[in-house]
Amino acid sequence: MKRSNTKRNRWQDHYSRRAKKEKFPARSVYKLQEIQRKYNLIKKGDKVLDLGCSPGSWLLLAAKLTGAGGRVVGVDLQPVSIEIPSNARVYKADILSINDEFFRSEGQDFNIILSDMAPATSGSKHVDSARSFNLCQAALSIAQNMLIPGGSFVCKIFQGEDFKAFSDSVKSSFNKTRIFKPQSSRKASREIYIIGLGKK
Ligand SMILES: C[S@@+](CC[C@H](N)C(=O)[O-])C[C@H]1O[C@@H](n2cnc3c(N)ncnc32)[C@H](O)[C@@H]1O
Repeated sequence: MKRSNTKRNRWQDHYSRRAKKEKFPARSVYKLQEIQRKYNLIKKGDKVLDLGCSPGSWLLLAAKLTGAGGRVVGVDLQPVSIEIPSNARVYKADILSINDEFFRSEGQDFNIILSDMAPATSGSKHVDSARSFNLCQAALSIAQNMLIPGGSFVCKIFQGEDFKAFSDSVKSSFNKTRIFKPQSSRKASREIYIIGLGKK
């Protein structure tokens, strides 16, 4: 027990130190970096929606990748802890109660929708994966409405009994789907990313 805690702490320290050095507010940035390296989803000039964007690591990386001609819109229950890049905008809102009207002013022509949303953990695996599934369904519904045809979707889910149902829903809306576990995600963590490529 002690050994694995120590190993886990070392792992966390490594990515946290690196994030601090590279001026990202959270080590989660390395998960998106790995996804980007493998799938090259975010391109210059793209319009990206980042659901669950706080504290702002993915938002910073996405803003850098899209460049001055791109746009990144972030949404979270919590405020971000970063200086918002000039090509980005952040809304404080609950994805579970947001309606499409909210985004109307941002258009429905996103190239990529990212969801790194995670529920507040309860200590019960069953409850946490059910909450994660709810967030994923809300993110997928937004993706179905707001992505351009051919657009991509990246969604974190806690693996649980609803995983297959969610993965099947993504499959029905996208030409291809991929399941990705970044190396920078702890092996013991049940989080995994479902990637939808080519929105139908
Ligand atoms: C793991 S953090 C995201 C980290 C972020 N990708 C980054 O790199 O900085 C998960 C986020 O999901 C947000 N979240 C959870 N439920 C949400 C909801 N219903 N609506 C909006 N955001 C939510 C949390 O507030 C939290 O900031």
